[in-house]
Amino acid sequence: MTETNLTRRKFMAVSSAAIASPFVIKMTGTVTHSEAAAKENETKYNDMKSIVIYYSQTGNTKKIGQAIQKGITRQTGQCDLVRVKEITPAKLEKYDLIGIGAPTWSSCPSPIVIYFCKNLPPTLKGKHFFWYSTHGTMPGRCIIRGVQPLKEAGMTVIGWKDWYCGCKVPGHMKPWYTDGHPDEIDLAEAESFGEAMVEHSRIISDGETGIIPTLHSTETSDQIWGKGHPFVFMGAGQQSPAPDMDSNMEVEKMPYPLEIPTSMNYVCELEGMPNREGAKSQPGNELKINPDKCIRCGLCVKGCPCYNIDDSVFPYVFKTQDCEMCLFCEGICPTGAIEFEFRKPDQNAGKGDSGMADPGKGGGDISLQLELAEATGRFRRLTRREDVGPKTWEEVTGHPRHKELP
Ligand SMILES: Cc1cc2nc3c(=O)[nH]c(=O)nc-3n(C[C@H](O)[C@H](O)[C@H](O)COP(=O)(O)O)c2cc1C
Ligand code: SF4
Ligand code: SF4
Repeated sequence: MTETNLTRRKFMAVSSAAIASPFVIKMTGTVTHSEAAAKENETKYNDMKSIVIYYSQTGNTKKIGQAIQKGITRQTGQCDLVRVKEITPAKLEKYDLIGIGAPTWSSCPSPIVIYFCKNLPPTLKGKHFFWYSTHGTMPGRCIIRGVQPLKEAGMTVIGWKDWYCGCKVPGHMKPWYTDGHPDEIDLAEAESFGEAMVEHSRIISDGETGIIPTLHSTETSDQIWGKGHPFVFMGAGQQSPAPDMDSNMEVEKMPYPLEIPTSMNYVCELEGMPNREGAKSQPGNELKINPDKCIRCGLCVKGCPCYNIDDSVFPYVFKTQDCEMCLFCEGICPTGAIEFEFRKPDQNAGKGDSGMADPGKGGGDISLQLELAEATGRFRRLTRREDVGPKTWEEVTGHPRHKELP
């Protein structure tokens, strides 16, 4: 066996063990690189064309994507990195390895990324994909919901990984429990993940299909990442935390919408969650445009990840069904023309189990989930629990909160 083959065999033994675990890619298979090895890889893998496609609203998923790109580039000499809105699935034909990244919203990938995955053409079937997501305290079933559509579309999903990241979420306390992430260690891990995906892709292409990971069950996912909760906490008119939405969740049965744009109820209704449709239907969560303040700059329309703002009429109309209540539009509007009544922060927030602006069930779940994640080595706490809060993000930043389009 040549030295190169030996190295690859060794790597495969470690990484397939990691991949077989339901935790998937805990980065035990990190490849170390001397300059000589990098040079060798350059010639070894430079026929592989890769791309990472991501959506990012506050920068975390982009940062992790950049680090993955760096890792892949070290192995292959090339890796494109593009926002999901800047590419269509049909343009992926020329790539051998495709990474998809999304932030977690209500324990699901943000829908714009799922829409993309659901629209992958059959001509891509069998291509090597990997998935990554970033999240705050409640990852829930985000990985399953990201990987499953890729598998259903016939893609070969060769790995996945999630990262705890800080939160800039309206209604969430600042500092937040997960603030400080991604740090240098996370980014180094992301680089290694990128390298590992190249190695896996190459090994699988060589015929070692046994290392293609099996997607964990929802039960396993719930044990590791928790069930999550619907994100309905920031509106002033919201009377109570959402009822337990998890009892009927059956992700295996989850169909997805076939076209863009469509309702985010692809998750909620079908999984028995309360409807998070937002703007109109949840009293207190209404978004309104004040036509006297609107200067028609278009930033809200361009930035909305759900194609939810109809600017063919004035005042613009929120189409509601597709709204994720991410409040990006409200946060970027330079004149404050989009009005939203925020809930007052809970005075105990950050002191005990209540980390939200509402002392609902979310706080307690958050603490338990994070303690479990810490105990199992999946989470490194950089912000002390007693330091969480006391203000909400929108109180700390003032307005506008967003400076650029995601
Ligand atoms: C609308 C919205 C909903 C969110 N829901 C969750 C959630 O259910 N669980 C979680 O852990 N984090 C949640 N987050 C936090 C983000 O997943 C986390 O901050 C992520 O890293 C953001 O990525 P980005 O900076 O690339 O946008 C939510 C954020 C937003 C804006
Ligand atoms: S809150 Fe605003 S930006 Fe976010 S999905 Fe709804 S309309 Fe779009
Ligand atoms: S961002 Fe504000 S000012 Fe600009 S078009 Fe939207 S509502 Fe009008």
